[in-house]
This record gives sequence, C-alpha cells and structure tokens, in this order.
Amino acid sequence: MLANLILIGFSLKFVCGNVADVVLSCSLVEEGVGLSGMTGGSSFSRAPATLVFRDVAVASDESLDLLPPFVAPSLLDPDAIIIEVKASSPEVPNVEVLLHADCNDLEVTCEMSQYSVSKALRRSDLTYFMVSISVEAVNFSVTLILQTLAVLEPSMLTQSKLGLPLSPTGTLPTEVVFLVFSQRNSISARLRSDAVLHCSFRHREVPPEQEVAIGWRLQHKGKGWKVLQMETTLDEAEPRAAVHEERRGSSLNVTQVVDGDASVTLTKLKVRDEGSYICSVSLGPFKAQQIIQLHLLQPPQVSLSQQKLVLKAEPQTLSCHCSEYYPLDVQMEWWLLFPTDTEPTVSEDQGSLSSHRQHGDGSYSLTSQLTVPSTATPGTKIICKVSHRALSTPPLRQPGGHESTNQLLLVDCGLPDCHRDFLLPGDELTEMLR
Ligand SMILES: *[C@@H]1O[C@H](CO)[C@@H](O)[C@H](O)[C@H]1NC(C)=O
Ligand SMILES: *[C@@H]1O[C@H](CO)[C@@H](O)[C@H](O)[C@H]1NC(C)=O
Repeated sequence: MLANLILIGFSLKFVCGNVADVVLSCSLVEEGVGLSGMTGGSSFSRAPATLVFRDVAVASDESLDLLPPFVAPSLLDPDAIIIEVKASSPEVPNVEVLLHADCNDLEVTCEMSQYSVSKALRRSDLTYFMVSISVEAVNFSVTLILQTLAVLEPSMLTQSKLGLPLSPTGTLPTEVVFLVFSQRNSISARLRSDAVLHCSFRHREVPPEQEVAIGWRLQHKGKGWKVLQMETTLDEAEPRAAVHEERRGSSLNVTQVVDGDASVTLTKLKVRDEGSYICSVSLGPFKAQQIIQLHLLQPPQVSLSQQKLVLKAEPQTLSCHCSEYYPLDVQMEWWLLFPTDTEPTVSEDQGSLSSHRQHGDGSYSLTSQLTVPSTATPGTKIICKVSHRALSTPPLRQPGGHESTNQLLLVDCGLPDCHRDFLLPGDELTEMLR
C-alpha cells in the first residue's frame, strides 16, 4: 500500500509553534469509459492517494513528539499522488479531529476526484480537486474544493496519472477555495417537533456581489422532493435574497447565510419529512454538498385497560394499548410475576394482537388482549412489556433495553379489603390506596 510506504517516511522532528500535519489515506476516483462498448456505460477506477493538511493548529498541551510533521519520501515517485493543502484560510472546521483519528481507532473516509469548472471560467493553468472526508463516529464531514498552486521550483517531474508538475518534495501543492460541511450528519427528532439540519460553507475571499445559491432536497425510498431554495448575494449590509419555500414550515436565516450558515429549520415534523437531506451550496463556479439524515422517533405510550382486576367466576379480558409510536417496529409481551417468585417469567399465553392502526400524523397504535382465567393465582402481577427504539428516555428506560412496562396486580376479591389497586409504571411499584 502506498499509505504504508509514506508512513515509513515519517521521522520525528522538532516543530516550532503549535502546528502539526495531518496525513490521510484517500482514494482518487476517476470516471473512465467502460470497456464494454455494447452498453456504452462508464465505470469508476480508484487509485490510492494521500492528502496532507499542513500546519493544523493544535492545543498547546498537545505533545508534538507524537505528531511528527509530514516528510515526503526521499525518492521522488511520479506515480504517487500526494496532495498537500494548508488547513487555514479558509479554515477547515474541526480538522484537528483528524489528528487523533488513528489513535482513537476512528474510521476516516476520504475520497477525491478531479473537479471541472464551467468552460467560461476554466483556466488552463489551474486544476481543481473535490475531496470528501468523513469520520462518522464524531460527526465530522466536509467536502473541499482545492485549487492547485503554481509550483515555484518544479522538480522536472510530472505526476504520471494527472500530468501535473510535482513540487521538489514530490507533492501537488493546493489551497482550499471552497468547502461545505456539517456538524451533525444524522439527527433524530420527535414527531410534531422542530429540527435544525446543519450545513455550513466557507470560501476564500470573494466580491460581496457574489451570488450564493442554496438548495435543500429530501430523498427517501427512491423519491425526491425540493424542500427550499434560496439565492442571495454575500453583501453583509444588504443581502438581496430570494427564498422559495417548497415545504411549508421550512426556513433559512439570510443573515446567517451571508456568514456561511446554510442550516435549514423544519417545523412541525411529520413522518413524511423523514429521509436524507441534501444541502447543496453553489458559489461562483463551485458547488459542493452534504447529506444529513433525519430520523423520526416517537416512543409509545403504554397503558392497561384496567387499573384493577378483581377475579370473577368467568374469564376476563385485559388490554394493553401501545399508542402513537414511530417507526412501526414494536414488540409487546405479557409477563407474569407469581406471588412466590422474585423474577417475572414470560407468559405462555401471549394473548392476541390487533392489527396496526396508522394515525393522520403517520404514527402507529397496537393493542394486545389477554384473557385472564378465573383460576389465576391471586397476587400475581401481570406485566405488559413494550420494546421500541424510541424508548430510551427515563423514566421509561429499563436497564439494558429500550422497553416500557405497565403492570397490574391481580386481587382476589374473597378478601374484605379488595379495593386496593396496584399500578406499576416502569419498574417502580406505586401503591394507590383508595
Ligand atoms: C454524533 O451524532 C449522533 C447522532 O445524532 C449523536 O448521538 C452523537 O452524540 C454525536 N457525536 C458527537 C461526538 O457529537
Ligand atoms: C437570524 O440570525 C441573526 C444572527 O444570528 C439573528 O440575530 C436573527 O435573530 C435571526 N433571525 C431570525 C428570524 O431568526
């Protein structure tokens, strides 16, 4: 692997100032024409590449011995693709998380490709790359557009694949011209609540009359919808903005857009708002995007039809109602805790389930009915246990699982004081005396 070769090239070296280099293994993705002339389809090829962020600011307490600067291989290799970029101006947000990604065993995804700008703006001496980097575990995701810098003292060598002149250290020097990033690529929200989907951009200096266009789209299960579109100038004093709100209750703050914040707010979330949101930002010849997943989660409310079940001569029906939850997957179970036991056991009779009911807001309800025979043991606790993804907030949380229970105590009415009800929300016994 190329990456390994380069890592061997590392050497410990004293560094002045609190800056370090970040070296990432990437793939250069190229679109090639497929060999199968019949279909005329195109295919993608991947080549190993390295991205070096130079001079990333590090915290002053950071030991720089552990963060040696990048040292290029001593033998210039025209086949190696080493892209070098300064991480400042515009600043690459949170780039320091990449410094420790290796030690913390975080998986970094890095893909780059050549980026073509429209013909009118094309300059023969400039080449652009689009680089997408993400570290899922820490919600780090950024797409950069890099522009090649003139190589002042060319090494006489040309990168074999890209045909670009290599620097004396065998790298391709570049600078960031535009970037789009998100701090949260996956968010969960309750039905009927509001959510902010985060998306920001940075750019090198541009004239204030420069137009920026922001588009938010939703994709879900192979379908796509426009959410919101806006165009504005980057003039702080007087942004001229045109906003097209396609989803009712979606908004962007124009003042914040001028400062590079393209986040969208969605109000009164419904089930149909769930999916992948694509935030695209266009600035002059550059366009980059981020994808943010929105998941809706609504925990069920669990209730039993009776708070008191007094044994009678004939069998009685007990219902456990699980209402207004999302998504659909839910598990309902009947458990019994006999008066002589300390641990509840799964009931052999699991009753019968109604079919799912869907409400206007997309949430679901389900009922399970259990027949309690007249021969049931008095003092037995009947427990309705519900498991659902959204049940993770206290006080409903049970150790080790996403469940909610509701319990009821069978009372034998042979006794004179049988008007005692026991209702157990969660795992706490609340005794109510009437
Ligand atoms: C990343 O996002 C997930 C999902 O929204 C969240 O639970 C987690 O706390 C976030 N992690 C960090 C480090 O921000
Ligand atoms: C837009 O953002 C600015 C700056 O953060 C803030 O002062 C203002 O209140 C926001 N406007 C709205 C309508 O939220």
